[in-house]
Amino acid sequence: MKHILSQIESALGGLYDAAELESIKKALCLELLDISAVSFFTKETLAADTERDRKLDEALERLAQGEPLQYVIGFTPFCGLQFQVDSRVLIPRPETAELVDWVAQDTVASGSLLDVGTGSGCIAISLAHRLPDWKVQGWDISDGALEVARENNRLNGTDVVFRRVDILAAQASDQKFDVIVSNPPYVLESEKVQMEKTVLDYEPYTALFVPDSDALLFYRAIAEFGKHNLSKGGRLYFEINPLAADVLRQMLLKADYHDIEIRNDIFGKQRMIKAIL
Ligand SMILES: C[S@@+](CC[C@H](N)C(=O)[O-])C[C@H]1O[C@@H](n2cnc3c(N)ncnc32)[C@H](O)[C@@H]1O
Repeated sequence: MKHILSQIESALGGLYDAAELESIKKALCLELLDISAVSFFTKETLAADTERDRKLDEALERLAQGEPLQYVIGFTPFCGLQFQVDSRVLIPRPETAELVDWVAQDTVASGSLLDVGTGSGCIAISLAHRLPDWKVQGWDISDGALEVARENNRLNGTDVVFRRVDILAAQASDQKFDVIVSNPPYVLESEKVQMEKTVLDYEPYTALFVPDSDALLFYRAIAEFGKHNLSKGGRLYFEINPLAADVLRQMLLKADYHDIEIRNDIFGKQRMIKAIL
């Protein structure tokens, strides 16, 4: 065990601070290399294993280049479930779990729910898991993301229907949803300079950015779609860019939504909005 820990330290020591390095060591040993917690914490001497050494070498090379730990391990926890992730999908964020909690707390009877821009399927699958009587759909424009989402649906034993839909071109239809939820791309291109290189180099561009000239692009399209495809009294939930909270509220009021509520995330930033049709 000791030689594995010192190999991790010498490969990544200069790149991460002490706390990050400790959590990387734990994640690599327990989740990637399948070393038991007892062996890890007691630093037990392990039998030689060439396959384990190969996996570790490959993981350290990827991490040293700046790839996010979740992609290297291939999984990440979200809302108590495990989600497969790779560079085709955004890594689910803790703020998004708060949005899932809000939707689930508000939702009692059965109904139908749509998650727009589903990515790994983390929102749709977590809600389907918590609300087993609901019919849940997840839409995304990316075929790669939909493949990951369908695999996560299978792994978590949920029954979400995933479809390839470009929400910017979606036509109103007869289909009615009781809830529409979305964490759409909302980072302004001008915010790129403040972002970490690991996000910019590895996470999908189409999952993250909107042009500065139209920060509300996705929100407007989804709100418009909701006007026709939400049932009367239906609820719309968005994860939001705190910079856009006030204009978004105005836009939703203009679009005839009411009872608009904005909530902060765990970091104290305005991060979620709910509106009723
Ligand atoms: C911020 S990510 C959110 C992913 C996931 N829901 C989450 O919360 O982790 C936005 C998602 O919207 C999808 N997307 C981008 N443009 C889209 C479009 N025009 N129509 C539908 N989905 C789109 C991206 O492929 C990406 O998966």
